Amino acid sequence: MGISFHRYDAVIVGAGLAGLAAARELESHGKHVCVLTKLHPLRSHSGAAQGGINAALKDDDSTQSHIFDTIKGSDYLANQEAVELMCSSAPETIRWVERMGAAFSREEDGTIAQRPFGGQSFPRTCYAKDRTGLTILQTLFEQAHRDGVEFWDEWYVADIIYHEKEQKIVNGVVAYNIKTGQKGIFYAKAVLFATGGYARSYATNSNAHANTGDGLSIVARHGIPLKDMEFVQFHPTGLAGTGILISEAARGEGGKLFNSKGERFMEKYAPEKLELGPRDLVSRSITKEILAGNGVGKDKDAVYLDLTHLGKDKIMSRLPELRELALTFLGLDMIKEPILISPTAHYSMGGIPTDTHGRVRYDIQNNVKSFYAAGECACVSVHGANRLGANSLLEATFYGRHVGQTIIKDLEEDKLLTHKEPDINDANKMISEIDKIISSCGTERVPLIRSELQRTMTINAGVFRTKEKLLEQKKIIKKLKRKYDNIGIDDRSKIFNTDLQEAIELGHMLDFTAYIVEGAILREESRGSHFRDDFPKRDDEKFLKHTYGYMDKKGNIKIDYKPVTIGKYKPTERTY
Ligand code: FUM
Repeated sequence: MGISFHRYDAVIVGAGLAGLAAARELESHGKHVCVLTKLHPLRSHSGAAQGGINAALKDDDSTQSHIFDTIKGSDYLANQEAVELMCSSAPETIRWVERMGAAFSREEDGTIAQRPFGGQSFPRTCYAKDRTGLTILQTLFEQAHRDGVEFWDEWYVADIIYHEKEQKIVNGVVAYNIKTGQKGIFYAKAVLFATGGYARSYATNSNAHANTGDGLSIVARHGIPLKDMEFVQFHPTGLAGTGILISEAARGEGGKLFNSKGERFMEKYAPEKLELGPRDLVSRSITKEILAGNGVGKDKDAVYLDLTHLGKDKIMSRLPELRELALTFLGLDMIKEPILISPTAHYSMGGIPTDTHGRVRYDIQNNVKSFYAAGECACVSVHGANRLGANSLLEATFYGRHVGQTIIKDLEEDKLLTHKEPDINDANKMISEIDKIISSCGTERVPLIRSELQRTMTINAGVFRTKEKLLEQKKIIKKLKRKYDNIGIDDRSKIFNTDLQEAIELGHMLDFTAYIVEGAILREESRGSHFRDDFPKRDDEKFLKHTYGYMDKKGNIKIDYKPVTIGKYKPTERTY
């Protein structure tokens, strides 16, 4: 089977909200666009986001308040210009998806229903029951499809075509078809990565199997930095034992947390906001209760989330999916009894650094040409050190569309490349790497290395961190990389070879976890989701700065920093 060659104005990798929003914007402006995804678009992880999407819609709410809550929630690591852009465009973003057909839940008076979410000073989370991400994903997919965006489902993007030495320019991607093994080169004047997050590197997580951080490691291997990787968010309420998301909407609607002594323990940790404190704080509070021996369940590693006082009608009309999940996985009916939850790795604040308009940076101030990133894989720094719940659907939808608009502008101002002539050399590296993995016959097994990585990341680089544990994790990753060099896979076929795909994904996980750990070792403070037992205070003097990690040829990570640009919101202590 030969290599197929394709040409587009823009190639988008990833079919979650960010990828689809960009695709729709580009196609509706007459650009020739395709979306490559390793799944079917409707299985993208955006569809798992339950609780909602933030926008200041009501007269007694304000964009300023949304901006301030986001910056405060970020523990002042957010880029204030990016936050301002996103929050002030939030109402228009909601109208955009609503006009396309997204069916939001409604108030009695017909306006879009909004519920309270953690760390926010107003109930500004718009929702579609507890299926908000899926509702928007279906709408965008339908519209993008109708407009003529070309979808290449189940195509795995293995590399970018990056000319580092000459001009630092990306002009396409190389990919293979998971179903057939067919290899393809997709040349484009612009390439957008919208490849999702990396919380799958932890044992207990709320992420889809696909969230293996592929996009980040592909980029990092070319010497492009990764930014603020140490900031991984633990969602307070994962279903005990599985990590499956139990939306913050459950607490937004009035859910209460209790320990084994029957104490509503958030009264101690966040006397005003209680269960609606920011996620970092609530996750640490739950973990402290469990470590203090106040956990519940067979292994005492969970706490209770009680929703029984909401009553059947409210649960069935607002949280039906959550009830179903707890029934299916724990056999507990939240209408009648409390369910068991514990923190779960949920969201990646770090990622591929971009400017405010989605152009990828190759160092702290210069951009790669023709290369863009949006959504969870990108780090434009709207979330800083800790994301507010329901700001991720907003970021993905708003920034996806906004970066689509940036690409249109760059295409029209003719700043981007014209197409390259087909060149087989662009695919050769990928082909030889894939052939090497398919024919590998070492003694180490991919699933074993992966589960050791996930287990140890949870222990050593989880909710509470110390220098000692992080250094231990650095050693473990090095050891696992050596093992990875000696893997063997059993399936040698070209068709639906999941052994091959999992091996490639594991290579990515081993690369980007090294950035998480190195950034966390050097950040000797506690900020947002990054909590160091040995440095429990935020230290603005030394660490009000972004981390940029670069991988050298031996796989070591070198760290550089860039100061946070502070706008009108000066850092103050966070109180709840
Ligand atoms: O809790 C949730 O529904 C998750 C939303 C989010 O992460 O933004």
